[in-house]
Amino acid sequence: MSTMMVAGNWKMNASTATTADLIDSLVAGAGQLSANVEMVVFPPLPYLAQAQQLLQHANIALGAQNVSDKAQGAYTGEVSAAMLKDFGVRYVLVGHSERRSLYGENDTLVAAKFQAVQAAGMVPVLCIGETLAQREQGATLSVVNGQVQAVIDALGVDALAAAVLAYEPVWAIGTGLTASPEQAQAVHQAIRAHVAAQNAVVAEGMQILYGGSVSGATAPELFAQADIDGGLVGGASLDAQSFLAIGQAAQS
Ligand code: 13P
Repeated sequence: MSTMMVAGNWKMNASTATTADLIDSLVAGAGQLSANVEMVVFPPLPYLAQAQQLLQHANIALGAQNVSDKAQGAYTGEVSAAMLKDFGVRYVLVGHSERRSLYGENDTLVAAKFQAVQAAGMVPVLCIGETLAQREQGATLSVVNGQVQAVIDALGVDALAAAVLAYEPVWAIGTGLTASPEQAQAVHQAIRAHVAAQNAVVAEGMQILYGGSVSGATAPELFAQADIDGGLVGGASLDAQSFLAIGQAAQS
């Protein structure tokens, strides 16, 4: 697949000043990237309005890191999919390992959030990945395919036609450890095969991003793999030059 996505998950890192600096630099640099690369930024929720303004005439899409599974009403502190859509959000992360492990989000809630995002006309980015212990037990593929299957069981395989997947091995997130291109490719290929067994057309069209300590140095080899369709970048997305270097690595 030649369309590549390079997505920056800022996590809980931002201020109005850094948002302005970072997005201004990204807008200036992203214009040089070839048309096969889609850049997306995922600021913390309070900065969406500012980011939407700054991205108005830019070729960079806006994403959100979290969403409520509920549509509206008495859910103090929650933010609905319709509200995100109202601020120009196109992509929403669901199932990030930090949400699963630190905030107790299980497959049922992840599927409900996935559905809420699609119902509002946005695209869920479904994050999946195994822990180090699971990898050492040889459970990597059963874990990641199980996380994908939970969404298929809840919503049907066709739901994946309007979604992006992101394989993020938990042991590679924020650790400086990157899965080798071969390790990542093997998992991406297995996920695509798992979906292909249920719908070959959906599997073929599905973008599968890799995440976990992606940098300008590691991106070229990762992106050269047949089943890696871009990156979900944490730390390196907070620095415009590093993030743009990853965007350049995605050019065909
Ligand atoms: P790092 O790139 O900081 O490892 O984070 C990856 C990630 O979790 C992106 O969602």
